[in-house]
Amino acid sequence: MIWRPFTQEKTTVPAIKIVRGEGIYLFSETGRKYMDMISSWWVNIHGHGNGEIAEAIHSQAKTLEHVIFTKFSHDPAEMLVENLKKLFPPNLSKFFFSDNGSTSVEVAIKMAYQYFRNMGTEKRNLFLCLEGGYHGDTFGAMSVAGKSSQYHGTFSELFFNSYPIGVPEYYEGVENVEEREDKIIEEWEQKLLAIGDRACAIIVEPLLQGAAGMKLYRPEFLEKLVHVVRSYGILVIFDEVMTGFYRTGKMFAMDHTNIIPDFICLSKGITGGFLPLGMTVTTKKVYDAFLSDDPCKTFIHGHSYTANPISCAAANKSLEILLRRETVENIGMISEFHKKAILKNIHRRRILGTMSAFDVGSSAQRDRLIESAFRRGIFLRPLGNTIYFLPPYCITEEELEKAYAIVNEFL
Ligand SMILES: Cc1ncc(COP(=O)(O)O)c(C=O)c1O
Repeated sequence: MIWRPFTQEKTTVPAIKIVRGEGIYLFSETGRKYMDMISSWWVNIHGHGNGEIAEAIHSQAKTLEHVIFTKFSHDPAEMLVENLKKLFPPNLSKFFFSDNGSTSVEVAIKMAYQYFRNMGTEKRNLFLCLEGGYHGDTFGAMSVAGKSSQYHGTFSELFFNSYPIGVPEYYEGVENVEEREDKIIEEWEQKLLAIGDRACAIIVEPLLQGAAGMKLYRPEFLEKLVHVVRSYGILVIFDEVMTGFYRTGKMFAMDHTNIIPDFICLSKGITGGFLPLGMTVTTKKVYDAFLSDDPCKTFIHGHSYTANPISCAAANKSLEILLRRETVENIGMISEFHKKAILKNIHRRRILGTMSAFDVGSSAQRDRLIESAFRRGIFLRPLGNTIYFLPPYCITEEELEKAYAIVNEFL
């Protein structure tokens, strides 16, 4: 029997069997068709069943399906690094492979911690993070989400120390946001006087906190915060697992700011939703701190499927599709559509790039909306009382119109 993720098996209803996917649609065994308006947990950026990625995978699988990535290397991984390099500023030039979003975060926090040890500073063992953040379900990733995490509270006594920083939320009609931002920054200027030289890194989901309920905060706040923490020599980790690859309307959320972080975590959209792959990007400064004749200074971390050639081939093709003019234009169309679309009787509307979210008044209303949309062929998955659209980039204006109309009718 299958035990499903994030599911209370006692009360849940049986899963609907999906037999095929095409574009934004999922087809069930009973012949029903659903619009996947959340890109299947935010990974299928080009929709389902993309023929070009399928072909790339087929061809790679026939050539080299896997090889241990220590003594050996291969073209798909080297090409992927070359392709990704072009998307980052020159000093983000070192790429470490892993298997998913959580492991890309584990790698960043372990590297940040070991960086200071390798540099001879043993006292930096704290992490700073944002309240409500989500970075995955492994222990390191859970620890840096903070002890009050809505997802991981059960395990909190096992976490290592992290200090969550309040988030000045930004949404349509919000008031006094700059004041709240300044207050948080001032508070942290004070707190850092006590703990600043014991912190090794801050980790954030830049601008958009996905699992927290699609919460937004302004680039100006992030820039101020990073400026303050960097004055203590604290390293900066951007978890772009969700925001990467044009989700926020730019290639990375980083590109909305003037910040170049010390680490970027990538996964989800990287293979277009075909295969798992994670990546942690960092600087030469961090990399160089691990170069030594002392074996203890090596980064002793790796996964059996590191840089799997088929995953890398899927990622190379996904990136090629992503960079095409028509894809970028459609991403622009989605952003504009979100901004123009009118929704009635909602709270705290927030839009960033291809993400559009709002809150409803109660869990009962939420459940009725989700059910009603599903009956009419729109698959949504709420986060608390937040409803959001995060569609694949191949969605058309007509399909967006239909999804909005169905939700609006209910509202
Ligand atoms: C920002 C962020 N980081 C990390 C993760 C964990 O990724 P994975 O589920 O691939 O382990 C997620 C997953 O939703 C995420 O949203």
